[in-house]
Amino acid sequence: MAQPVIIGPSILSADFLRLGEQLTELEAAGADYIHFDVMDGAFVPNISVGLPVLEATRRGTSLPIDVHLMIVNPDAWVEAFADAGADSVTFHIEATPHAHRVAQTIRAKGKGVGIAINPSTPLAAVAEMLPFVDQVLVMTINPGFGGQTLINEMLGKITRMREMMDRINPSCRLQVDGGVNDQTIGKVVAAGACSIVAGSYTFNPSRTIAESIAALRAGYQ
Ligand code: DX5
Ligand code: ZN
Repeated sequence: MAQPVIIGPSILSADFLRLGEQLTELEAAGADYIHFDVMDGAFVPNISVGLPVLEATRRGTSLPIDVHLMIVNPDAWVEAFADAGADSVTFHIEATPHAHRVAQTIRAKGKGVGIAINPSTPLAAVAEMLPFVDQVLVMTINPGFGGQTLINEMLGKITRMREMMDRINPSCRLQVDGGVNDQTIGKVVAAGACSIVAGSYTFNPSRTIAESIAALRAGYQ
């Protein structure tokens, strides 16, 4: 049975001066969760936000917070992000040789477990982890920056990932992140994604947040 499509705005593109207000707007607009991007300047060539902003975000919304760690050595950090307010923590398979241990640590904190995979990383890299995760994040851009263009070749990868997940862990969600807008959301959903991150499209000053979310929903229905 097809899983419902859920939308998680990435606050990477939010106006941090008005973060509280924008969280309220997201909730009113029917966002399903908040996607929280953490970058360390080492795993990706950019630095974003960390624990204090996560704690503030936790106070500012009752929506689930989905933390996406784009950091080296996630082993050292997942407990801190769980404690700071994450409902689920996703880390990159490329960032640790001990993915299973990291997943166990997140699970022991009672949080959802996600594993992310970069565009150039083959699907087989996460195959052995599928029984242990709630979510696989197929990156549709190279992580590090919002506002990039979705790499079309990832559509086939999404479909192949979904097929593998259906065999090994059918209840696992397939999340996509990067370059999703009202034109591309239909393609990623048709390819097999059910959890959709959208940053720069959601927070576009030419529209309200509610208009953006409505246009995203219309894009796949
Ligand atoms: C990028 C982040 C994304 C980013 C997506 O490395 O992981 O979550 O916010 O931005 P858009 O939706 O603008 O491509
Ligand atoms: Zn992300």
